[in-house]
Amino acid sequence: MSSETKKLWVVLCVLLSVSDSWFWVRGEPQVPCYFIFGDSLEDDGNNNNITTLAKSNYQPYGIDFPSGPTGRFCNGRTTADIIVQLLGFEDFIPPFATAGGQDILKGVNYASAAAGIRDETGRQLGDRISMNQQLRNFQTTISQIVTLLGNETSAADYLGKCIYSVGMGNNDYINNYFMPLFYSTSRQYTPEQYADVLIQEYSQQLATLHDYGARKVVVIGLGPIGCTPNQLAQSNSTSCVERINNDSSLLFNARLKPLVHNLNNNLTGVKFIYVNTYGIFEDILRNAPSLGFRVTNTGCCVVGNGLVTCLPLQTPCQNRSEYLFWDAYHPTERPNVIIAGRFYSAQAPCDTYPIDICQLAQL
Ligand SMILES: *[C@@H]1O[C@H](CO)[C@@H](O)[C@H](O)[C@H]1NC(C)=O
Ligand SMILES: *[C@@H]1O[C@H](CO)[C@@H](O)[C@H](O)[C@H]1NC(C)=O
Ligand SMILES: *[C@@H]1O[C@H](CO)[C@@H](O)[C@H](O)[C@H]1NC(C)=O
Ligand SMILES: *[C@@H]1O[C@H](CO)[C@@H](O)[C@H](O)[C@H]1NC(C)=O
Ligand SMILES: *[C@@H]1O[C@H](CO)[C@@H](O)[C@H](O)[C@H]1NC(C)=O
Ligand SMILES: *[C@@H]1O[C@H](CO)[C@@H](O)[C@H](O)[C@H]1NC(C)=O
Repeated sequence: MSSETKKLWVVLCVLLSVSDSWFWVRGEPQVPCYFIFGDSLEDDGNNNNITTLAKSNYQPYGIDFPSGPTGRFCNGRTTADIIVQLLGFEDFIPPFATAGGQDILKGVNYASAAAGIRDETGRQLGDRISMNQQLRNFQTTISQIVTLLGNETSAADYLGKCIYSVGMGNNDYINNYFMPLFYSTSRQYTPEQYADVLIQEYSQQLATLHDYGARKVVVIGLGPIGCTPNQLAQSNSTSCVERINNDSSLLFNARLKPLVHNLNNNLTGVKFIYVNTYGIFEDILRNAPSLGFRVTNTGCCVVGNGLVTCLPLQTPCQNRSEYLFWDAYHPTERPNVIIAGRFYSAQAPCDTYPIDICQLAQL
């Protein structure tokens, strides 16, 4: 790419990412396809039809989403949805549970609420699609793409042009390590050892994704788990629980970024990038008043005693855009717009490593 074209792209990246309103870009997307792996932060309906308490396909979820409740754990769009729009797609990426036909060529969303890097993670809530199972589901999609495109060579060429994002690890803490009544991991491992064990398994899963043909991969770091309304309530605290952040997100991220570096060094023809959810979220918290977030320590919807999701059909808070959190764990749409915008077009040097999503798309 010439340096003039590169400059133009940088300008376009910034213009696209600062727009806070609903928009769909007309014309070709920047990459032909986007595949999404993750948990409730990215799920767009994969848990709707499985037996689990981790569901969100009922009101008031989706109150700000055009088609209402869909299985997204938010009032509106998830960060994945916003990345889809910034990449220039004309529609959201369908969940694996219902995706079919030619649509899968644009990408598939495999994310499942309560899922983790470890297979057992989230089991106290019911069924969920673990990262290992999400990778098996991706294999199913690949064979469908081979059929659609005629042979394996053209499928591999095609899959190498897509963007992939992977956001895993939250539930391995929230719905595993920090639940000693249901899981033994906190008795087996120190926080450091547990982060090592998780990263070891995650590195194999990311290498598998590469084996299956992914070449442009966004690895999403953990946000500050100790700042969620649920953790605040459990610790009777009004501000972030430092010990929780130290023992989970910070240890995990400190190993994840070097893993991304190693994967880039060790595998050929591939670009993994790390996006710094933690730093961006901290920035939003620090600047909450000037950004118009009046409430940062409780969710907007009514959550039941001991529950983390919204109670069905209860009227949520009046002004959703003043709340950082929608329920006891998941941000409202407005911080998602800021976070996804900075993943897409980095505003600070530490937002993304080594490049941002806009640059990744242009490779
Ligand atoms: C949902 O589950 C039911 C019962 O297992 C099944 O008959 C139906 O086909 C499923 N629908 C989707 C969209 O997965
Ligand atoms: C695969 O399909 C493409 C497009 O139809 C074709 O050009 C190519 O020759 C095929 N390759 C093989 C090995 O069959
Ligand atoms: C929080 O407060 C409740 C009720 O006052 C108390 O039962 C509980 O032990 C407290 N938890 C912590 C972690 O301090
Ligand atoms: C958390 O980690 C920081 C930096 O290592 C340290 O200064 C702080 O004391 C830790 N806090 C707790 C509660 O462990
Ligand atoms: C990559 O290579 C480095 C040495 O260059 C090695 O220490 C590391 O374990 C390797 N990582 C992976 C994920 O293969
Ligand atoms: C809702 O909150 C936003 C952000 O603080 C503010 O700009 C807006 O005026 C509020 N709307 C209402 C109706 O209070």
